[in-house]
Amino acid sequence: MPKDRIAVITGASRGIGRSIALALAAQGATIVAVDMDQAATDAIVAELKAAGGKALGVVGNVTVPADVERMIDAATEAFGRVDILVNNAGITRDGLLMRMKEEDWDAVLTVNLKGAFLCTRAAFKVMSKQRYGRIINIASVVGQMGNAGQANYCASKAGLIGLTKSNARELAKRNVTVNAVAPGFIATAMTDALSDKVRAELTAQIPLERLGSADDIANAVVFLASEASGYITGHVLSVNGGMYM
Ligand code: NAI
Repeated sequence: MPKDRIAVITGASRGIGRSIALALAAQGATIVAVDMDQAATDAIVAELKAAGGKALGVVGNVTVPADVERMIDAATEAFGRVDILVNNAGITRDGLLMRMKEEDWDAVLTVNLKGAFLCTRAAFKVMSKQRYGRIINIASVVGQMGNAGQANYCASKAGLIGLTKSNARELAKRNVTVNAVAPGFIATAMTDALSDKVRAELTAQIPLERLGSADDIANAVVFLASEASGYITGHVLSVNGGMYM
């Protein structure tokens, strides 16, 4: 990847977003790290700089159009371009359908799907003029196969796959590619807390017999953000150890 690429990453301060930020920075990209909380955003910027990278933090909420405009403006004012957008910010509000509250439905659809729409629309304004862009949406295996107790989350991630394909068709003429990465079960602080029995049940569904790591996802994002993936658009790259194919 050329050293001067500018990458905006939402939800960059922890988990998968943090690994993506560190991996893109290791390839020489300048990172615009977006998250909701000042302290967490400052911490990832400090970590990126300590690793020798260039980074700017923007505190903002992907569901608020003015925040989204501000984060893209901050990137262009500081660095002049937006080459890569990673729509990673996401939430869950799990519950069985009959007990699911409308507010839980709305919250998940708004962050996971509307947030990606708003960020893409704002970033494309810049990418369109540049005639270059790489947009990567972080979906989920459950958006491909469904999951009991996650109707809102699965609908949001399936919707994100539809948004990916639609935008891929529409933005291609400006040399902007749009792809999704669909992680399987990824080891996080949440999965660390699972009992051995539950962990064994999860692992039994995965041909590669392990949970994925945030770095497994980051490696896929680095490829889709690079020059090497220039003829790939509208693709959903499963990074799931084979649990769904
Ligand atoms: P996480 O909860 O550790 O991190 C999400 C980040 O997004 C947090 O820093 C949070 O502050 C930020 N965020 C949430 N709402 C936001 C908003 N409205 N505006 C700006 N930032 C916001 O989550 P994790 O596990 O790292 O997941 C990252 C992405 O990967 C999500 O889209 C998630 O759905 C997806 N994913 C995660 C899997 C897993 O096993 N952890 C599996 C499949 C997909």
